[in-house]
Amino acid sequence: MNRREFLATTFVAGTASSATAVGRRKGAARIVGVSCSPRKGKTTASALKICLDAAQAVDPAVTTELIELAGRNIGVFDPADPKATQGSFPELVPVLSDASVAAILVGTPVYFGNMTSLCKAFLDHCMAFRRESFALSGKVAGIVAVGAARNGGQELTIQSVQAALLCQEMIVVGDGRPTGHFGATLVNDGSDSIAPDEFGIATARNLGRRVAEVALKLAQAKG
Ligand SMILES: Cc1cc2nc3c(=O)[nH]c(=O)nc-3n(C[C@H](O)[C@H](O)[C@H](O)COP(=O)(O)O)c2cc1C
Repeated sequence: MNRREFLATTFVAGTASSATAVGRRKGAARIVGVSCSPRKGKTTASALKICLDAAQAVDPAVTTELIELAGRNIGVFDPADPKATQGSFPELVPVLSDASVAAILVGTPVYFGNMTSLCKAFLDHCMAFRRESFALSGKVAGIVAVGAARNGGQELTIQSVQAALLCQEMIVVGDGRPTGHFGATLVNDGSDSIAPDEFGIATARNLGRRVAEVALKLAQAKG
């Protein structure tokens, strides 16, 4: 299968299976969180939920959704045959590229100072968006990293994910004031809880708020 055929297959298959292509309501902003943890429902998902709740609290025009990549069989991207390892990635294509999606939050655990291999595989499969006229262009992006240590590599991880999303022409933002840095940086306390991490939770809330504020401004500008 050549590149053109792959893209056609990916996008057509995705579109056909889309139950979420709702189009864009004027001034509304849909925000999707993508958890790249191999463990479903654990601390990365919890951190993303905090972000999404904070985003939703900004304005009733904001709606949110959490997608977990765990169990979706998204494997190492092989340029010679991307379909071989795409798992259920095609199902995500129409969801993430839908015009109603104003922002995407990507969450990843920190593995040895960087994103998980699942996160990297997902970002590499996102080549399909870039090749399809930069289908994620203009959407806002915010990143969440959860590690087991306070300085376990969350910032480096965030910047690595940001680099990939900049290549998609996404509008990358960090956590808003007063924390105001690169994104949400959380610590799993060793018992799979982020609840004691007040600072990390503040960065998650500030990221969700900031992403929603920028997404709403852009949605309103589009009219
Ligand atoms: C292979 C591996 C490598 C890890 N490396 C780091 C690391 O470099 N820094 C860190 O702070 N935590 C590290 N951790 C801990 C995870 O980031 C932490 O447990 C995180 O909460 C996992 O996210 P989850 O709860 O969504 O699975 C590592 C865990 C694993 C399994």
